[in-house]
Amino acid sequence: MQGAAAVSARALRKVYGSGGAEVEALRGVTVDIEPRRMTAIMGPSGSGKSTLMHLLAGLDTPTSGQVLYDDLDITRLDDRRLTALRRQEVGFVFQAFNLVPTLTVLENVLLPFELGGTKPSREHHAWILERAVDLGIGRLLDRRPHQLSGGQQQRVAILRALAIRPRLIFADEPTGNLDSRSGREVLTLLERATREHDQAVVLVTHDPGAAAHADRVLFISDGAVVHDVGRTDASTLSEMVLALAAAR
Ligand SMILES: Nc1ncnc2c1ncn2[C@@H]1O[C@H](COP(=O)(O)OP(=O)(O)OP(=O)(O)O)[C@@H](O)[C@H]1O
Ligand SMILES: [Mg+2]
Repeated sequence: MQGAAAVSARALRKVYGSGGAEVEALRGVTVDIEPRRMTAIMGPSGSGKSTLMHLLAGLDTPTSGQVLYDDLDITRLDDRRLTALRRQEVGFVFQAFNLVPTLTVLENVLLPFELGGTKPSREHHAWILERAVDLGIGRLLDRRPHQLSGGQQQRVAILRALAIRPRLIFADEPTGNLDSRSGREVLTLLERATREHDQAVVLVTHDPGAAAHADRVLFISDGAVVHDVGRTDASTLSEMVLALAAAR
């Protein structure tokens, strides 16, 4: 389908809790995430960014509304089919890296293939090793996660998310624990994923410098999209963040 969205949200609502303790984390979000683009999601703490990302990735189900992959509404899939879809179509980089402590770095990176019952081709395997070098973890492939720094573990998690070349990569603060140089390398790699492998990247970040790498920036406030802008420089994004905080 030419020009189709990589994933779409339709009137997404998410209410956590019940009785007197309900929190409406998303209040009817409708948005198309474009293929071959990096989309950043910004907004104050607690505004619903992670909730939106989890729903788009099929990690949680909405209270109402739809999440569409092509014409498939994934909110209607049973657990088994949802797990299969996530393994094939989605890569994740979250704040908790979820590396398996008993596996080496390389085994962790290749885990998505293992789980999906496939093996990378020789070229694909070589490509993964090249990306490891780009990320500065090429010499660490035989180590185990506890023998790495936090920033190195984060880069392993990023490589694992890229490894199967999923159509969608979701990254929640992927540069949060990195120094500025490592952070830029991660962003460059995510940009390359969009251009060279037709992947869509959704990047949740508080950092205007990181969001300035995105083709589009969505601002969320109190569970709703309040701004939707194209590529914008870091200082303009900073001003928008401050204006949003002041308006609350
Ligand atoms: N599992 C949960 N149970 C109950 N409330 C939750 C749960 N997850 C999130 N919330 C609430 O939903 C709202 C949105 O949370 P969310 O994690 O999406 O915010 P966020 O924009 O990602 O914030 P941050 O920038 O701090 O990561 C918050 O009020 C939060 O407390
Ligand atoms: Mg969050």
